[in-house]
Amino acid sequence: MPLDPPRASRYDAISYLMIFLLFGPPGCGKGTQAVVLASRLNIPAISTGEMFRAEHNAGTEIGKAACKLLAEGKLVSDELVNAMVVSRTGREDCVNGFLLDGYPRTAPQAIFLSQLARERGWPEPVVIHLDVADELLVTRLTARRQCPTCLHIYNIVSHPPRVEGICDHDGAPLITRDDDREEVIRRRLRAYDELTGPVLKWYGPKSVITVDGSGTAAEVSEAVARGTGLLACR
Ligand code: AP5
Ligand code: MG
Repeated sequence: MPLDPPRASRYDAISYLMIFLLFGPPGCGKGTQAVVLASRLNIPAISTGEMFRAEHNAGTEIGKAACKLLAEGKLVSDELVNAMVVSRTGREDCVNGFLLDGYPRTAPQAIFLSQLARERGWPEPVVIHLDVADELLVTRLTARRQCPTCLHIYNIVSHPPRVEGICDHDGAPLITRDDDREEVIRRRLRAYDELTGPVLKWYGPKSVITVDGSGTAAEVSEAVARGTGLLACR
């Protein structure tokens, strides 16, 4: 697949392994855009939030510990998230690269990822920041629904299923996430400002591709493709 990287310095010239980090506040569209970008590049999209929800659904100890924090809009410990990322990115499907949705989310996680990258010989990541104003985020999240089986993300306003409350892909009844209540959304936004905002500063403005995430999902996908120079991959 021909790749046309926008800035050679972002990519390892001799390796096609590419690592993407998708940043942005709750509801900015990370999960929605991760699916599009990962399928365009044929790499796995790894959402640490989805990993915790899967652990919870499987009834594991990690899931039980994380579930309370998720429902309260608090972050899970760096140690636990880092260990999960080490394990997940070591899997076979990551050999050609991967996209991380929602990780790193604190400065210690960013430092940890950078050390891991050095140890594993990974190239510099392509850091994408989806920028969306808070009030739009709250509107989007309170209207979000998700398929518990295939994880497809819907929105009762901007992306409704064909049949109300039912997944288009597998017919499962859609759910509302526990943390999509307005008071929890506001707490998640505060956690983002306090702990995740500084991560963007850590990478520095020259390393971050900021994309306006307030258009339609299709417009944002195009903006991400333009910003990363991946239009040639369609
Ligand atoms: P996580 O699951 O990552 O949640 P989040 O960061 O709060 O982000 P969301 O998944 O809520 O939103 P999104 O940006 O993916 O938006 P989406 O595409 O769904 O994390 C959950 C929790 O896990 C954290 O709070 C924390 O507790 C824990 N956790 C996870 N990672 C961690 C880490 N690294 N460290 C510590 N703890 C961690 O879109 C939202 C809605 O908008 C949908 O309805 C969608 O259809 C709609 N939409 C999307 N794009 C558009 C658009 N362009 N126009 C209109 N509607 C749109
Ligand atoms: Mg998400």
